[in-house]
Amino acid sequence: MKFLILALCVAAASAAVVPLSADQASLVKSSWAQVKHSEVDILASIFTANPDIQARFPQFAGKDIDSIKDTGAFATHAGRIVGFFSEIVGLIGNQSNVPALYTLTEQLAASHKARGISTAQFGEFRASLVSYLSNHVSWGENVAAAWNVALDNFFFVLTSNY
Ligand code: HEM
Repeated sequence: MKFLILALCVAAASAAVVPLSADQASLVKSSWAQVKHSEVDILASIFTANPDIQARFPQFAGKDIDSIKDTGAFATHAGRIVGFFSEIVGLIGNQSNVPALYTLTEQLAASHKARGISTAQFGEFRASLVSYLSNHVSWGENVAAAWNVALDNFFFVLTSNY
């Protein structure tokens, strides 16, 4: 019975947006600052770990990562995709930015739903991003927990109208 109540609490907690504490927002911002200019490296690591994601990009589908990584087209895409996170991270931690966070995230959901991107693929993207962060920023339990809350919120809003 205790387990059931705990399981229900966990389910309820992950089914809503949970505000980040000031400390958590600052941990997310300071750790993101350590990698935010590594756009190409981040997208390359996501493609390497998930060929099914790479396959959805017409310009890069089926190509060897090493042959595309240094191209201008790849830098442009990486800048857009990783830059989106910079925009989001820049807005978190300030209550008055919440409407803008919803708008940006819902627009991303609409554009990706129209492309037929699945929620499972967003899950793969998230796992690879967290893996990249854990290997490239000062990482610890508190940083991991802060990112977990931030990404739970982001993906909750992103996928709730899917
Ligand atoms: C949270 C994760 C993601 C973020 C932040 C993100 C961000 C973006 C952004 C900002 C763009 C350009 C603007 C637009 O067209 O909407 C874009 C385009 C695109 N995204 Fe994503 N994306 C994510 C996940 C994915 C995943 C998982 C896939 C595929 C499985 C995907 C496939 C695409 C494609 C195919 C395009 C168009 C590329 C082109 O112009 O050729 N995205 N994404």
